[in-house]
Amino acid sequence: MSAGDPAGPTRLVVLDHVARLSGAEINLLKVAPKLRGFDVTVVLAEPGDLADRLRAAGAAVEIVPLDRRAADVAAQQRGIAELLRGGLAFLAYGVRLRRVLRRLRPDLVVTNSSKAHLYGAVAAALARVPLVCHVHDRLTGDTYALPALLLLRAVFGYRAAGLIANSASTAATLPARAAARTVALPCPVDEADPLPHRPSDTVRFAVVGRISPWKGQDLAVRAFARWRERTGQEGRLTIVGGALFGEDEFGDGLLRLLDELGVADAVDVTGHVMPERVQEVLAGTDVLLHTSRIPEPFGQVVVEGMHAGVAVVAADAGGPAEIVHDGVDGLLYPVGDPVELAAAMERLTASPDLRARLAAAGRETARNYAIPAVLPRYEAFLRRVGGRPAPAPSGVARG
Ligand code: GLC
Repeated sequence: MSAGDPAGPTRLVVLDHVARLSGAEINLLKVAPKLRGFDVTVVLAEPGDLADRLRAAGAAVEIVPLDRRAADVAAQQRGIAELLRGGLAFLAYGVRLRRVLRRLRPDLVVTNSSKAHLYGAVAAALARVPLVCHVHDRLTGDTYALPALLLLRAVFGYRAAGLIANSASTAATLPARAAARTVALPCPVDEADPLPHRPSDTVRFAVVGRISPWKGQDLAVRAFARWRERTGQEGRLTIVGGALFGEDEFGDGLLRLLDELGVADAVDVTGHVMPERVQEVLAGTDVLLHTSRIPEPFGQVVVEGMHAGVAVVAADAGGPAEIVHDGVDGLLYPVGDPVELAAAMERLTASPDLRARLAAAGRETARNYAIPAVLPRYEAFLRRVGGRPAPAPSGVARG
């Protein structure tokens, strides 16, 4: 334990290389400002929405810019020269962060993104602070090229004092030798009450998430076209999300697909939006489609959809398969199969009763992901790995 009052708040420094609001960053925004008994400073490698919103929520934020070369090394990088350049830049950044850690004197360093796991491991080792890696991506060849996979396995297996995986499915991809130090904790659902549902005569589908080939928005479009053809209904599909990490080519292809399939008139494409706008879209959605073609690590939008009282259809893999109970609080379909997805859409539109029943049960399920249900589990784990004693309940003196 580091300096300071041993019974005072546990000091956390959270590291993330991204300040755009992508999944892991949205989760950080929900959790970090609300941890009780923790004094949190978030150190980001770029300015952006996450920094602004964390500050607005009362969290301390520092920006320590990361060298562009390191910021640009993709998880899928295989070229030796790029890897070496990136590796050196990470090392240099880790050394720089050691000074930041020396000043902030945290009890624990928590890393929240793949790059942060790497440079954070360097910084935490140099500053002799225990490291907790919050893992938001499944550690498999689907997500990472071999060099990144091996480096992350080494950090998780040999350096991390604790690992938080966002689902059992993500946890199962982590090194076996880290199993005893790993906990699977879900992302909590947004705290605000959902907006009132806006009724409509037309059935409205939505798919929400970063525009990326693995998120499978093209599958949603194909299934929607098939659903229209088979049911003869108009319907609308809203595609919410932006190509945040340079996947514009796939986004362009998606627009072409809308024309090819003759559904462009029935599809709204919003681009990247802020979380509040997602809530608005959900309030005007009857069926939420979750279409990832590789196992989704967690899938925050699935619980957000359930919370908003929308019937959910999700690919039967990864986090969504842990969240959704097929036929009870949503429907699951075989991963990557637009024909089966369209069949599930048909079932739901043929029976408004089924839709209402699944949506109501989904709302109940979403309660398990409410902040008061989830946050104490984060607090307990962090405290167990490197924290100070829990604060006494108010009014009770500690001896
Ligand atoms: C990543 C994962 C997503 C998860 C989020 C929060 O964005 O891809 O499945 O919901 O992190 O853990």
